[in-house]
Amino acid sequence: MRTEEPRPIRLKDYQVPAFTTREVNLDIELDPKATRVHSKLAMERNETSADKTAPLVLDGEKLKLVEVRIDGERLGANRYSVTDKHLTIHDVPDGPFTLETVTSCAPEENTALTGLYLTDGIYCTQCEAEGFRRITYYLDRPDNMAVFRTRITGDKKSEPVLLSNGNPVNKGKTKDGRHFVEWHDPFPKPSYLFALVAGDLASVEDKFVTMSGREVTLRIFVEKGNEDRCAYAMEALKRSMKWDEERFGREYDLDIFMIVAVSAFNMGAMENKGLNVFNDKYILARPDTATDADYAAIEAIIAHEYFHNWTGNRITCRDWFQLCLKEGLTVFRDQEFTSDMRSRPVKRISDVRLLRAHQFPEDGGPLAHPVRPDSYIEINNFYTATVYEKGAELCRMIHTMAGPKRFRKGMDLYFERHDGEAATVEDFLDALGDGTKLDLTQFKRWYRQSGTPEVLASGRYDAARKTYTLKMSQVCPPTPGQRVKEPYHIPVAVGLVGPDGKDMPLTLDGEEKAGATTRVLHLTEREGTWRFRNVAEKPVPSLLRGFTAPVKLDANLKERDLVFLMRHDSDSFNRWEAAQRYATALLVKTVEAAREGAAPRQGMAFAEMVVDLLSARKIDPDFVAQIILLPSEQTLAQIAGENVDVDAIHKARESLRGSIAAHAKKALLSAYTRMEVKGPYNPDGGDAGRRALRNACLGYLAAAPGEDGVRLAAEQFRTASNMTDSIAALSVLSHIDCPERAAALAAFYERWKDDHLVMDKWLSIQAMSSLPGTLDEVKRLTGHPAFTMKNPNKVRALITSFASMNQLHFHDAKGAGYRFVADKVLELDKLNPQVAARLLGTFKSWRQFEPKRRKLMQKELKRIAGTEGLSRDVYEIATKTLA
Ligand code: TRP
Ligand code: ZN
Repeated sequence: MRTEEPRPIRLKDYQVPAFTTREVNLDIELDPKATRVHSKLAMERNETSADKTAPLVLDGEKLKLVEVRIDGERLGANRYSVTDKHLTIHDVPDGPFTLETVTSCAPEENTALTGLYLTDGIYCTQCEAEGFRRITYYLDRPDNMAVFRTRITGDKKSEPVLLSNGNPVNKGKTKDGRHFVEWHDPFPKPSYLFALVAGDLASVEDKFVTMSGREVTLRIFVEKGNEDRCAYAMEALKRSMKWDEERFGREYDLDIFMIVAVSAFNMGAMENKGLNVFNDKYILARPDTATDADYAAIEAIIAHEYFHNWTGNRITCRDWFQLCLKEGLTVFRDQEFTSDMRSRPVKRISDVRLLRAHQFPEDGGPLAHPVRPDSYIEINNFYTATVYEKGAELCRMIHTMAGPKRFRKGMDLYFERHDGEAATVEDFLDALGDGTKLDLTQFKRWYRQSGTPEVLASGRYDAARKTYTLKMSQVCPPTPGQRVKEPYHIPVAVGLVGPDGKDMPLTLDGEEKAGATTRVLHLTEREGTWRFRNVAEKPVPSLLRGFTAPVKLDANLKERDLVFLMRHDSDSFNRWEAAQRYATALLVKTVEAAREGAAPRQGMAFAEMVVDLLSARKIDPDFVAQIILLPSEQTLAQIAGENVDVDAIHKARESLRGSIAAHAKKALLSAYTRMEVKGPYNPDGGDAGRRALRNACLGYLAAAPGEDGVRLAAEQFRTASNMTDSIAALSVLSHIDCPERAAALAAFYERWKDDHLVMDKWLSIQAMSSLPGTLDEVKRLTGHPAFTMKNPNKVRALITSFASMNQLHFHDAKGAGYRFVADKVLELDKLNPQVAARLLGTFKSWRQFEPKRRKLMQKELKRIAGTEGLSRDVYEIATKTLA
């Protein structure tokens, strides 16, 4: 068999496929070593394809080909050829024909977790993006949509449950004592949405009545013994279904909706038609095993996958360059859902935090790519923060500019025009443009230019004329392959805050009457000027309210303006933002001062704000928990931009935390007591917010002088009645060298050692510790029975947590952290390239660090890039990161 070289795939080379598949008939006989797949495809030449004589080239990997037939006739070896990637049939009939193949694959040997694999004895598939080709030969591309019939045969004992997409239409016994179930999915779909699950699973059932009165059966399948951990996921599913009807008019379309939770899974979850497959971390929850954050993530991911039924499945992507068409839009939809279920401002803050933590560094580093990339080597490397999170921001900007009613009209038009199709970003923008009546021509640049635009703003107040003039300009730094950028269409929500702390009504030059107190300005050129009239007193500008665009804003604000905004801005996001900026500036100055041997800067305003907010009774505790938290060490490294000194950052931040805690100790203690949640555990935003604030106080108290922090944390750990409080206490202790730490870790292990999801928390808490010796501890834990390289959750819990959340120790001055992670990347690449490539992503900001560390990171990257037999996944990340 010939081996094909990896080569980049380009958007500009897109061509409609030479063939289409109308119907798929799969007959799958499960076996761990040799699963036999008999596929019958109703195919024909694609009328719209330019090439009328092209051979039929099917994708297929890691398959054993047994036979090929066309219209029932078995083909001799001269009529086809096989490589490690393709099956090519040189000659096919002109009209419609039936192509049959018999192949076999080995789920038991599949450690890559794409295609058909086994996890804890359960057969499971993952086909996005290109996994179906590991199940059978197929035109494995999303613009090839077909109706699937799937017959699964398995053992009655070990596989009593046999699932696939759509509705069950037949079942029975086979002659040899096995059993089978047949499924039919009436909705034509691309192969990446195919799924099969088989095993000895338990299930919980519920139902949902849709807006048109149809009853849908809802079923969640889990490993036996976990039935008591599905209730929240089920509730979240019903709320998602209802919300999509109310907010977008979208109804579910099959009679049954199934979810399966498995423990070995490459990502969060997968939206297979009618049969979502989830990482069990995002399904299973009980108050004693899952934290508030887990509950929130379950709610969001359940919604996300469910929403894909319309944005992704009913309307799918023409090709993988259009990935943001489904992912960006669906993230936007799930963010809106969460905002309606919980606190909207807190959700916005945490989304922007995520965007800045992951997407901004991606956009500013060697792996920068447009929201719609124009080339890739391995598509799995493009399920990125840029495609997902920035993609969602682009939808949000259209929403901001159009307003909710017109946005809905645009979405309605999109569904009306493209239901049942494989669409493009152009289709989406055309529908949204027509439906909202916005001109999105310039806006489209957001999809094709990479990099984070920088907006510079400055204002001038004219006391005599009572005008306020706001100037804004934009630049976007060069990114790989894109030196020059055209100006973006940037919507900037603006408010002017008067000296009394109240918003002023805004009257732009040329307007008769005063408008709203927050206005959206459109910065479309490299520079723009806006003049506000009737401005009675000198205001403080509050710009980019609600973070209306994914840009870096420099608003030229003085320290006292920030202090003013963090106390008075009516826009919660900007209030939080002002506090973050104030603290960041303080910490950056402290790091600089330390370099010159000077004393740390004393920023009492932050500590005073903490005291005031903790004593204020009317403010949402969850919001207070967010605003009092200092920017992370990673954020500070990012802001510093170059020659980052991780030790100085750690020290500066710890010392500021200590001084805030000392100043606010009384208020912290009193809020800690006051925020205690009594009564049975409730995962909703309200109680979760109180716990968040209480645990944020605990974190500060541990930094305050005296033993109160350790004492409270140890006590909270002992008495906690839910995982949120237990983990919060354990995490506080994990950074303190004290006997209580070891005792708590040991007690936690004893209690939860048989629970793999809780053990992930135990692993990651230790990986994130700031104590000396953490790297050795992490190395030791890779040999612990609770850890295995074969399970992505374990890898993420221990190794990814270490590399991405423990800035201090990953960046060990001698390079031991880098060496360890690089070794693991290489080891993992042999098992699971997707997860290995993601782990390698932790090296992407290597150029920002001070010269010694920069060299050490580069050395590891080169070592990886120079290794023989790398996967395409790791090869692409390593070479692009070095370039
Ligand atoms: N489409 C999935 C989602 O965002 C994510 C996904 C893509 C995925 N590729 C995957 C999940 C591979 C698991 C494995 O909802
Ligand atoms: Zn998705």
